[in-house]
Amino acid sequence: MTTQHAGLKAWVDEMAALTKPDRIVWCDGSAEQRAQFTAEAVRDGVLKPLNPQKRPGCYIAYSNPNDVARVEHLTFICTPTKAEAGPTNHWMAPDEAYTKLRGLFDGSMRGRTMYVVPYVMGPLSSPFSKIGVEITDSVYVVLNMGIMTRMGKPALDMLGTDGDFNHGLHSTLDCNPERRFICHFPQDNTIWSVGSGYGGNVLLGKKCLALRIGSYLGKKEGWLAEHMLILGVESPEGQTTYVAAAFPSACGKTNFAMMIPPKRFAGWKVWTVGDDIAWMRTGPDGRLWAINPEAGYFGVAPGTSFSSNATAMKTIEKDTLFTNVALTEDGDVWWEGMGAAPERATDWQGRPWTPASGEKGAHPNARFTAPMQNNPTLSVHANDPQGVPISAIIFGGRRATTVPLVIQSFNWTHGVYLGATLGSETTAAAMGKIGVVRRDPMAMLPFCGYDMGEYFGHWLNMQAKIPHPPKIFMVNWFRQDENGKFLWPGFGDNMRVLKWILDRALGRVGAQETLLGWVPRDTDLDLTGVAVSDEQFAKAMKIDLDEWTEELESQGELFDKLGATLPKELALQREILRAKVARVRDTA
Ligand code: GTP
Ligand code: SPV
Ligand code: MN
Repeated sequence: MTTQHAGLKAWVDEMAALTKPDRIVWCDGSAEQRAQFTAEAVRDGVLKPLNPQKRPGCYIAYSNPNDVARVEHLTFICTPTKAEAGPTNHWMAPDEAYTKLRGLFDGSMRGRTMYVVPYVMGPLSSPFSKIGVEITDSVYVVLNMGIMTRMGKPALDMLGTDGDFNHGLHSTLDCNPERRFICHFPQDNTIWSVGSGYGGNVLLGKKCLALRIGSYLGKKEGWLAEHMLILGVESPEGQTTYVAAAFPSACGKTNFAMMIPPKRFAGWKVWTVGDDIAWMRTGPDGRLWAINPEAGYFGVAPGTSFSSNATAMKTIEKDTLFTNVALTEDGDVWWEGMGAAPERATDWQGRPWTPASGEKGAHPNARFTAPMQNNPTLSVHANDPQGVPISAIIFGGRRATTVPLVIQSFNWTHGVYLGATLGSETTAAAMGKIGVVRRDPMAMLPFCGYDMGEYFGHWLNMQAKIPHPPKIFMVNWFRQDENGKFLWPGFGDNMRVLKWILDRALGRVGAQETLLGWVPRDTDLDLTGVAVSDEQFAKAMKIDLDEWTEELESQGELFDKLGATLPKELALQREILRAKVARVRDTA
């Protein structure tokens, strides 16, 4: 397979001259080629086949133990000025970054194969889709990109002879963290990634293109690229309403997108459009329309079980790649939270493991890569070039305290404020300390490709561009009691909260105004059959003025850091809430 695209040919030649591979292979996306790459990966020890009786078409891969998550401190936005990247991103001057990485790429593919991976982010032939080409020396990346994107010939066909495409270059090198850099050049539509073989660092269509470069393009072109799942809720009458929800990494997007409603909601169905990324723009009808640019799920394995997420368990029964999970003696996979532990297994580092060994069998950020076509609850609109109309946007973090189970914003600006001040405890999805609360605006802190204050401004500007905007909500599934136990059962029971959100979005139910926003009145949430006492529910919904005083101080740290580009409206929203909290405290 080759291309008639002169610019693409010239660029591939240039990258080959730099990296000096032994051979160049163009990926066509065919089943035959996939089978051949898979066989080579097995031969070279990159993949291990699982038991075909138990998991047909499935393979396990282990990454280097030093390379198990995104590396935010090694991720750079390389804009001409530091100000364009803003105070929340790491910045490197483009010249410096190109020079430094060119040194690392020089001869990096000697003795290796260079794979040219053309791919589409978004449904084929959708006017909203974008094309990327990733050059990589990792067959693991090729096989993952084949699941996560519409890869191969369809991308070249869409590209034609002179189409625009994102230029991605990746080389694993020797996987040395000292020589690991993920650099984005928004102005050049270019991504250079070296020294890692893991997930969001190297599957360049995902966080690098769909979010960091995507958010930059979205600002320029007037749309939104967001770290959001998209789902449709079908009522027993057959009416389907779509919502998009931003939760930080490893905070429940995949679970929410595949939710199975509890018994009480017989006749209700949740359909998955996407589990990680949404591209949204105003449609001809004045509503906000969303597509999922991906074609598969790169999901967190630990915690996934038939009781927490049966849909995901069915999705990963075949044709799935598993990374850093435990391998059982009968050739199946296992991870913490999946169910009964095997007596003996091989852990994610290839060591013998038993339940008594006191170590994790799977890495906490172990992942499955599965085609969305496997999902039994895949929305019929997942491949729709127009996407789906969004009625509600939800922001949610992982907060043991402070943030109530659900609130609705007073209006768009207030909703943007709720998203902009989102806080969440850090997780294993990125290297670094786990469980520390940090501000993660719109769940985009690690993924915004330009200045965060400008990004908030773009969100505010979108209001005038959406005649029929979605309503905005904030949720917290993770609040705990004084013994560290979750106050809300979560998972399928989140349907109860989602139902109220839909009813609010469609104007079908009342609410109670509070300091923070609108909340359900006593009887508005259907709690029939849920194992939550009135007292527990009250704690899950509580607005504690001491906690909010502290919260507002902490929000101030982000706002101070953003400085001059922070939209004034958002600073004022915080001031109003501070004044309200202080007044109630003083009069109490
Ligand atoms: P990324 O792929 O990193 O973007 O993660 P994600 O946002 O898709 O998170 P995911 O759905 O994979 O969930 C991550 C973790 O959160 C898992 O360990 C889940 O078990 C847990 N989780 C998800 N939903 C809930 C919930 O409603 N309540 C509680 N307590 N935990 C949840
Ligand atoms: C996340 O961290 O938000 C993920 C996994 O979805 S990764 O692809 O590594 O970014
Ligand atoms: Mn994610």
